[in-house]
Amino acid sequence: MTSTLVTGIGLLSTQSDEGDILDAALVMDDGRVAWVGHADTAPSADESVDVDGRAVIPGFVDSHAHLAFAGDRAAEFSARMAGTAYSAGGIRSTVDATRAASDDTLRANIARLTEELLRSGSTTFEIKSGYGLTTVDEARSLRIAQEFTDHTTFLGAHVVAPEFADDPAGYVALVTGQMLDACAPHARWIDVFCDRGAFDGDQAREVLAAGVRAGLSPRVHANQLQRGPGVQVAVEAGAASADHCTHLDDHDVAALADSATVATLLPGAEFSTRSPYPDARRLLDAGVTVAIATDCNPGSSYTTSMPFCIALAVREMHMTPAEALTAATLGGACALRQDDIGRLTVGSSADLVVLDAPDPIHLAYRPGVDLIDRVWRRGVRVRGTGHRDR
Ligand code: NIG
Ligand code: FE
Repeated sequence: MTSTLVTGIGLLSTQSDEGDILDAALVMDDGRVAWVGHADTAPSADESVDVDGRAVIPGFVDSHAHLAFAGDRAAEFSARMAGTAYSAGGIRSTVDATRAASDDTLRANIARLTEELLRSGSTTFEIKSGYGLTTVDEARSLRIAQEFTDHTTFLGAHVVAPEFADDPAGYVALVTGQMLDACAPHARWIDVFCDRGAFDGDQAREVLAAGVRAGLSPRVHANQLQRGPGVQVAVEAGAASADHCTHLDDHDVAALADSATVATLLPGAEFSTRSPYPDARRLLDAGVTVAIATDCNPGSSYTTSMPFCIALAVREMHMTPAEALTAATLGGACALRQDDIGRLTVGSSADLVVLDAPDPIHLAYRPGVDLIDRVWRRGVRVRGTGHRDR
């Protein structure tokens, strides 16, 4: 593989001890960052690209996305905007569409969404199952998702499958038994929706424990719709992340601050369900590691745009632009327990985004504007030549 010098970087956000480097350059070699520093001390490389004073940031890490589904729920969104409340029950309409879809349709949907992710600067993303809710449909969702990412998550415990409406214990037994056996070979993570209308604390503990026995690592949908046991369950299980964290009490915040569990905030969900946003300041001020992710799904947050989520985090959750950028890069990397992404230092993955802006503040300052000029993923250019050919 040829080495590439990226020079003329007005501001390089390393998300490391090196901080922001002005008038910077970076060398990529064999999919890794080989050098970062001031442009005037840069080594030579096989080829060189001048980004004309633009800002360069690490590729976004979208640590929470439900991409394995078919159909959409535009009518539900429209009704919600006219006053109908969001509930976990809407998931079941996507379950019907997903079960009815062929493998090729599911694959094409994931491909379309991952293309959107890449074009908007997300170079690592997680994909959850959770819209199949049968052994066959959960396993095929994960098998297809595995074609697109290493971070696949088994979410059989999204809601109780319709066939088990009168027997939730029977559904938990299926999820922790035959379904887990079929899904574990295709997944790295196990997730459970611990909330009103989904699973209670004891059921969530059971699901996570079974997943861990099968070699998966836990993460939890916690405290999205109301206060409850989700965050405590996540921390007890040593989960990499507790996601949503919209309704927290002081014990939840303290538990997160004392643990390695990341609080992953998903402001696209509050935007699209017209709900109060999580209190990001309370978490940051308590010392909790915070990530931002899209929660891309057809019900509560149908966006693949991390820049949009950054703008929401700044405007609606009172994060500074710098905190929001860190949460969308390094925070996501922590939530996926991967230490070679979300930062640009020697040895890290060559995942970089050139912004059509002099400073990443513009991601929130210019909401809704496509500022992604170029994207490299694992050293390979996946968007842009710098001449605005989108
Ligand atoms: O993260 N909260 C649970 N799951 C999704 C919503 C899924 C849906 O409504 O289809 C979420 O918001
Ligand atoms: Fe989610």
